[in-house]
Amino acid sequence: MVTCYDFWSAQIINNSNVDAVLVGDSTAMVMHGYDTTINADIDMMVSHTAAVSKGLKQKFLIADMPFLSHLKGRNQLVESVDKLFKAGAQAVKIEGTGNTINDIEFLVKSGIPVMGHLGMTPQSVHQFGGFKLQGNTENQANQILEEAKKLQYAGCFSIVLEMVPSKLSKKITQNLSIPTIGIGAGKFTSGQILVLQDLLGMNKDFNPKFLKKYLNGFELIKKALNNYDKDVKEMKFPSTKESY
Ligand code: KIV
Repeated sequence: MVTCYDFWSAQIINNSNVDAVLVGDSTAMVMHGYDTTINADIDMMVSHTAAVSKGLKQKFLIADMPFLSHLKGRNQLVESVDKLFKAGAQAVKIEGTGNTINDIEFLVKSGIPVMGHLGMTPQSVHQFGGFKLQGNTENQANQILEEAKKLQYAGCFSIVLEMVPSKLSKKITQNLSIPTIGIGAGKFTSGQILVLQDLLGMNKDFNPKFLKKYLNGFELIKKALNNYDKDVKEMKFPSTKESY
């Protein structure tokens, strides 16, 4: 899986072998420049989901429920899911278990596929005191395992495990019948997800241990821009070939 926030990259992903796409609330950071995902709201998520769904015709499309949107009462929850689905989402992802387990069960019973998200759940960044590895004590690890079981019981079709030790994600995966999708969770999950811009190397200053960059996108794009700039200044572009 990869994240996707816009039409043009959705078209590329649509032609790739990647199975599924998440319109993540990480869009608040990656596309809008905020420090956390807390600034993503339902309008932001709907707008990105609508753009992605236009370019993504053959992949499974999951959209994130943004910060607190699932904790504002049933009416608000249903309204938010309704907006995301009308924008093209086929499932929603909800972080944590705490106050949400009943709502997850309610959504699943209402025919809405729900993905869970455990470990370093970014919407709780201030509770964690930063984007830090979770589940590295026995107590914490047991708690995350129990939460995973609760999410499966509530009807989640899959669970994202973010920034937890590989040993824990392996144990969780072995204890569940639904697939786990890892990010910073080692290789023993059922699948993996990365933020598209991260794997393409678009941010040269973002280098967490779990990330592998498959392209130096930052340098490649800078080079293309400088080639264009040079051509314009040297009057090589547009040439007669590009002129009417
Ligand atoms: O918002 C996001 O991009 C995510 C993934 C990193 C799992 O939740």
